[in-house]
Amino acid sequence: MKRSLLGIRGLELAEIEDLLGLAAHYKARILAGEEIQRVPRRAIGLLFFEGSTRTRVSFEQAAAYLGYRSTNFAGPGSSMAKGETLKDTILTLKYERLDAIVMRHNASGATQLAATFFGGPVINAGDGEHEHPTQALADAMTIIERKGSIQGLKIAIVGDVMHSRVARSNAWLLTKLGAELNLVGPRTLMPPVMSHLPGAIQYDLLAGIEGCDVVMCLRLQRERMDSGLLSSIGEYRRLYQVNQRALRVAKRDAMVMHPGPINRGIELDDLTADGVASAIHQQVENGIFVRMAALHWAFDGSGTDTPTLRLADGKKAAKKAAKAEKAEKSERATTGGKA
Ligand code: MLT
Repeated sequence: MKRSLLGIRGLELAEIEDLLGLAAHYKARILAGEEIQRVPRRAIGLLFFEGSTRTRVSFEQAAAYLGYRSTNFAGPGSSMAKGETLKDTILTLKYERLDAIVMRHNASGATQLAATFFGGPVINAGDGEHEHPTQALADAMTIIERKGSIQGLKIAIVGDVMHSRVARSNAWLLTKLGAELNLVGPRTLMPPVMSHLPGAIQYDLLAGIEGCDVVMCLRLQRERMDSGLLSSIGEYRRLYQVNQRALRVAKRDAMVMHPGPINRGIELDDLTADGVASAIHQQVENGIFVRMAALHWAFDGSGTDTPTLRLADGKKAAKKAAKAEKAEKSERATTGGKA
């Protein structure tokens, strides 16, 4: 069976557990230096019609670990610059015999359209203001690693909820996994029809993050904002910046997250972005493993020796991964970072 990963909203809990279990499994194997069985002759297209560092590089890394060939494709420099439609481009790539497509596009729903014409698996790497499922999976994996489970945690997502696909995918994912969710931000940056998203709305930062186990910041999506939504960046910083002072009302051991790229000094201050509570680098690294899981899952494991794992089995693998990570870190420390 081949399948697309277009969003979190339509996933069953069992599918989410498979994806997280697989990601933990791949992380454990890679950190322990174990070989990953390579899948020969599988070719995927990485179609990024919008800028990306983390997501694109981690899909490239994921594909390379799995032994896939990947071809990069972007709007400028392609026939789309000559006016080719998205439909014709996708059909062309299908007959170029690509096996799967990973796609980022500024239009919400573009990946659904691509899946319709491509036929094979399409993985959504972020479509407009709709969803960014692999980012949310990396975030969930990171929370599970730090907190053990998501069930019963109090989590706040802070900032530009209206324009954020990360907020949407996380809202679905975190509530499906049993978190109590607050969506926090100025009225002008909240989606007009909040009933479509799970979670309680808070317009006040301190009220929104009080007692939270996790505070997840969002980037201000200035490229998607009509002017006039914020009176000034200074005002946003004053009212919504997650910093050491604001964090005093969260749980003492609250973790801080951001999908990146950060507007430093606006959504987060330096101390918080770089402090011990920050899980930002762990989110980036886990991005590779969830993308390996997504690629594996899209082909239902065909061509690999890895069975699809449930979260419980994945958790065992995660424990192994944490051990391996610790060992890797102490080895790096003793070799002065040369390992
Ligand atoms: C995205 O593309 O949505 C990023 O991962 C987050 C952001 O751009 O703010």
